[in-house]
Amino acid sequence: MNSDVEIAGDLTAIPHLLPPVPAHPTGISGFVGLARSLAADRDAWAPLVRYDATTRWYHRLRTGPGYELWLLSWLPGQGSGRHDHGPSSGVLTVLEGELTEHARGGARALAAGAQRVFAPGYVHEVVNDGLRPAVSLHAYFPGLTEMPMHAPHCVESRPLLTDSSV
Ligand SMILES: [Fe+2]
Repeated sequence: MNSDVEIAGDLTAIPHLLPPVPAHPTGISGFVGLARSLAADRDAWAPLVRYDATTRWYHRLRTGPGYELWLLSWLPGQGSGRHDHGPSSGVLTVLEGELTEHARGGARALAAGAQRVFAPGYVHEVVNDGLRPAVSLHAYFPGLTEMPMHAPHCVESRPLLTDSSV
């Protein structure tokens, strides 16, 4: 090391001394941070939210290199069914209301602001057990290409076979 080197003047004026700010998140902490900043920017997502009594509503909010962000709404009683996310990792962030996640470890209440990070193949079911609508933000990296459904309360995390998979 050249520990005897001194830099004169404004250190921040030397570009290579500061790492560039990435335009897109590249790791778990980046996606968690992106979700938190979006959660705090209510004007960016609240006007887009719709509710559909017949099915969960979802909207692809943003895409980037190797990831996508989805906005979902959940009316009371609506749920995802038990599923995994194929090869995608994810960050689930509750923006409004409360959701319940059911997974191998049991049920977990997720209030507004709660975040869950999950690895590829993680099996869970998310439901709105509450009495008011909920909104959530989901980051998937890589982008979600499959969402295999699993049998309810399946002990093993094996995908539920469908007619097309037999
Ligand atoms: Fe999920």
